[in-house]
Amino acid sequence: MSATFSKVGLIGCGAMGQGIAQLSAQAGAQVLLLDARAGAAQHAVERIKAVWSSLAAKGRLDAEQLAAYGARLQAVQSSADLAGCDLVVEAIVEKLDLKQTLLHELEPLLAANAVIASNTSSLSITAMATALKNQKRFAGWHFFNPAPLMKVVEVVKGLATDAATCERLAQFTREFGHTPVSAQDTPGFLVNHLGRAYSTEALRIVQENVADFATVDRILRDQIGFKLGPFELMDLTGMDITHAVTESIYHQYYEEPRYRPNAIAAQRVAAGLLGRKSGTGYYRYDDGRPQLPA
Ligand code: NAI
Repeated sequence: MSATFSKVGLIGCGAMGQGIAQLSAQAGAQVLLLDARAGAAQHAVERIKAVWSSLAAKGRLDAEQLAAYGARLQAVQSSADLAGCDLVVEAIVEKLDLKQTLLHELEPLLAANAVIASNTSSLSITAMATALKNQKRFAGWHFFNPAPLMKVVEVVKGLATDAATCERLAQFTREFGHTPVSAQDTPGFLVNHLGRAYSTEALRIVQENVADFATVDRILRDQIGFKLGPFELMDLTGMDITHAVTESIYHQYYEEPRYRPNAIAAQRVAAGLLGRKSGTGYYRYDDGRPQLPA
């Protein structure tokens, strides 16, 4: 059993929720998964089990671990099922009003000492906390995609967050084999503040016809040494998430021009060209690997 949290609720079972659920179960916690979309939580359970099966096939998990991990995951139907959790993490869509509504409805169902965390990429933890009566137990816990592989996790302290809440999340992060980094509640925290330049300047370069997107990716990846070019990264993150994060940081900095979102991004979100998750973004993912569009 995990030393820090024994029963974890995960709300929102998309890319991030799945990764955090996987890590929590590996650390020894029981994990309850909940999603607003019918069947999504069960689908997430199956996908996580498939990841473990493939690790077992490569000899990186033994049969005992495989069975133990699998037994710790459970899809649930309603937030009332999360009542016994000592940690609940939300990883739903990046919309402040939806996150606040969820927190407001969740809080009365939980024990007084349960911790509540948000995996938000860019929204204010302090603003989100205003939906709660007890704001001390709420913090940002920001993973990067894919969560099992990306070892840095930002622990974000809102104005009202208790230091003890942050320390418990940091300790749980260490139990995953990841590294917690303390960040203050500022727009984009540390990594996404810095990372805006990577996406917005790349979009401006394409918009100004300096180079096409595949050339920008190739140079930054193969010549400069980044793991992914900016367009590959936007496809991995999801254009909807990237654009929402840029808009959120731009507005939080009072329309500071250097963070201005790009019309190309808005158009691609409207067209549903979100990246890997929709099958097509800047690249096509017919067999899961990026290919240039025809
Ligand atoms: P996603 O779109 O893959 O998954 C979101 C899930 O939440 C969907 O399954 C959806 O059905 C569910 N959902 C939406 N509203 C809900 C509600 N009210 N109650 C329960 N479930 C609900 O999104 P993704 O990429 O997993 O992002 C989730 C959160 O994590 C966002 O806040 C995002 O900013 C943040 N994040 C995303 C990263 C990325 O690279 N995609 C990296 C770090 C953080």
